[in-house]
Amino acid sequence: MTAVLWEAEADVVVVGSGVAGLTAALDAAELGMRVVVVTKDAVDAGSTGYAQGGVAVVLGDVPGDSVEAHVADTLTAGAGLSDAAAVAEILADGPAAVARLRARGAVFDSAPDGRPARTREGGHSAFRVVPAGGDATGAEVERALVAAATDRRLPLLVGHVAVDALRDGSGTVTGLAVLDDAGRPGVLRAPAVLLATGGYGQLYLSTTNPATATGDGLALALRAGATAADLEFVQFHPTVLYTGPAVGRRPLVTEAVRGEGAVLLDRAGRRFMTGVHPLADLAPRDVVAGAITRTLAATGADCVHLDATALPDFARRFPTVHAACRAAGIDPAREPIPVTPAAHYACGGVVTDLHGRTAVPGLYAAGEVARTGLHGANRLASNSLLEGLVVGARAARAVAADARTPRPAAGECLVAAPAVPLAPRGVVQQAMTVAAGIGRDAAGLAAASDRVEAAAVVGVPVDRAGVEDAALTLLAQAVLAAAGTRTESRGCHVRTDFPERDDVWQRASLELTLDAAGQPVVRTGTAVAA
Ligand code: SIN
Repeated sequence: MTAVLWEAEADVVVVGSGVAGLTAALDAAELGMRVVVVTKDAVDAGSTGYAQGGVAVVLGDVPGDSVEAHVADTLTAGAGLSDAAAVAEILADGPAAVARLRARGAVFDSAPDGRPARTREGGHSAFRVVPAGGDATGAEVERALVAAATDRRLPLLVGHVAVDALRDGSGTVTGLAVLDDAGRPGVLRAPAVLLATGGYGQLYLSTTNPATATGDGLALALRAGATAADLEFVQFHPTVLYTGPAVGRRPLVTEAVRGEGAVLLDRAGRRFMTGVHPLADLAPRDVVAGAITRTLAATGADCVHLDATALPDFARRFPTVHAACRAAGIDPAREPIPVTPAAHYACGGVVTDLHGRTAVPGLYAAGEVARTGLHGANRLASNSLLEGLVVGARAARAVAADARTPRPAAGECLVAAPAVPLAPRGVVQQAMTVAAGIGRDAAGLAAASDRVEAAAVVGVPVDRAGVEDAALTLLAQAVLAAAGTRTESRGCHVRTDFPERDDVWQRASLELTLDAAGQPVVRTGTAVAA
């Protein structure tokens, strides 16, 4: 038991300050709740600020496009595992969510006729993605939400990592245990904890995700008794800037570059996406990432190239990509950009309903940490900012509605710090990169699991790095277990020993919980209504 140095109280603790977290926090405050936002790093250090392409949304001003078409594209990308009801509901809420974000100050790009500008990304049948700042959409979304939170004086507890949900004897959440930057423990008592902690790209050596994306929220939810699903579906973005072998966050080269005409070339300068898919370079990103991986294997090259030299005014249209290229000594207006795939997005997560409720009373989740059924086996590009906006707002309303049910007062507060397996981060990342990237097989997955297990020691995390390492260790075992169980290839889960889709697996997600010893247990979940 660890003595708590401080305690505070709120109606809801929101963990994470990206699009879903700040949307939920602002809405909860508007609903009259006392909100505290907890974030382990700076307020804008999460994944939201790095999103480039835009928000996928049908605003009704693009001839020929419709919410039904957006739904159809999302279901196609989801490869039979999206929940059709979730897709329809979340996408239908999109226009109102974007209008609300604009009312909070977000500025999207305009076309010359004054309507919102549009771009296109892989898997979209229409130009429906609304960008901001050219290719800096996430940065603008984050800026606007942080400014709104500051205006509203939302309490922000920065530099505090969430350790565990506090629960009473019935398993109901009563608050959150945190550690500050110096490892000092504190407790936030609240009847609701809303996780908006993002994904776990840092499971891999190379990722588009920032250093904060270590899956802490998902690990916390599993330890609290929540169910996760679809963890085997880790989406790899086809194009990050390749500047040689490197570990950590790699600069994204947005799919919108291909959406606006750039093409992929192999080392001989040949286009290799033609003939792979009817949409060629604009195929869904699992198809493109898979084709790049095969091309690299066949040619022995370290990267392929993205030729954007025919695009007009690249620097103005894609300022973020342009700056990253220039910093690496590449001029995308004159030469093809070297690119490779990298880990990008967790399609699975904590199972929630469409209002962010998990199976644990008082525990909610929204954004990348959650699994609503929108993404299925492969997320459609730019659906994630939209999901964060829509489900963040819905979760705030759910917390407010649930607060009307009275709860017994929580008792004496001592934090039991659980001992958990902790493997060195480098070992975990190496094992996951080798065995659980694009192309997995049973032997590799089992060897990676053995490697992580052998490297792990059981201990109590005493600081942020420890909490993150514990989360990465648990999630490595969880992803490996799910990937080993799904003996087929579907969406972004590619098994080299089971290269085809198998209808036995159609419409059933794999769910994962922890057993009494804290070990992941995988089972076939409820059939999704596709
Ligand atoms: C991109 O801009 O290519 C990434 C967008 C996304 O992952 O949704």
